[in-house]
Amino acid sequence: MTADSTPLYEHPDRNLALELVRATEAAAIRAQPFIGKGDKNAADGAAVDAMRAFLGTVDFDGVIVIGEGEKDKAPMLFNGEHVGTGRGPSCDIAVDPIDGTSLTAAGRQNAISMLAASDRGTMLDASSVFYMNKIVTDGDGFGVIDIDRPIGDNIRAFAKAKGKAVGDIRVAVLDRPRHQQLIEDIRATGAGTRLMLDGDVAGGINAARYGTRIDMCVGIGGSPEGVATACAIKALGGFIQTRLAPKDDDERQKGIDAGLDIDKLYEANDLVSGDNTFFVATGVTDGGLVAGVKRLGPIIRTESIVLRSHSGTIRRIEADHLVSRWL
Ligand code: FBP
Repeated sequence: MTADSTPLYEHPDRNLALELVRATEAAAIRAQPFIGKGDKNAADGAAVDAMRAFLGTVDFDGVIVIGEGEKDKAPMLFNGEHVGTGRGPSCDIAVDPIDGTSLTAAGRQNAISMLAASDRGTMLDASSVFYMNKIVTDGDGFGVIDIDRPIGDNIRAFAKAKGKAVGDIRVAVLDRPRHQQLIEDIRATGAGTRLMLDGDVAGGINAARYGTRIDMCVGIGGSPEGVATACAIKALGGFIQTRLAPKDDDERQKGIDAGLDIDKLYEANDLVSGDNTFFVATGVTDGGLVAGVKRLGPIIRTESIVLRSHSGTIRRIEADHLVSRWL
């Protein structure tokens, strides 16, 4: 139903994400020759250029609120950069032309190209603090999960809410030294871990979707990725809680100066407000969320997901692109 209680199908309107998906497809296609070639900046640069060029063709007035790349001086779409033709809806944009640049360079699984959009002024600019502590589940996490409780308590409560044995719960975590204790605590409950080399956006989305083999995604990852994940979570009806995790006092102060509340519990609506969020992702390398881009003789095949919160729709798009058009 829409806000005036008219069934949505009587109010057809534009699904911007169906146009934005061309930008993540293009980024994945341009990154494809660099998969497994050991140069993550070359892969990222190709994806950034392709995404920028395709965004420029879409009728909307976008401002990049969440860019990516500052962390390791990689190529980037800049925060504050205007994208789109300037005609049409005014939007905030989060981009990650490749989430998983190292995975791409190594030829490992789970790299995606992603992009999220929401109405202007609704997306939190969390870029002044690089890391965020996150916990993501499907909608069954509401009223059950609390990021401030020990992970063991959350796992047991969630297993009970799902009617599952604790031993059947699988928790995705970035495989980082900072998570050593967290991983031990998860395993101590009897639950299993799915250690991710990189790419906690895909991990979060897989945790939020019903019917996947991941029940929960936890731990410290990028703040921009957290906001982008929230855009997808809103379309999935999933659950996310986050807290900023500044590395030191300087970064804490930088966050405060930028207007962030370091001690605040940021939930989906705090990360992106309103009910008009779009999220698109195209596979760069094969993963649990989407298949990776593949060159198959004269065609390049891409797989993408397209999510929209207003309608609660998740679409999966497989596309074949003639190589001859991309030379
Ligand atoms: P990039 O490929 O865009 O650099 O990000 C990969 C990623 O794994 C994110 O998914 C995650 O949020 C972040 O890096 C974690 O940061 P770090 O690698 O510093 O632990």
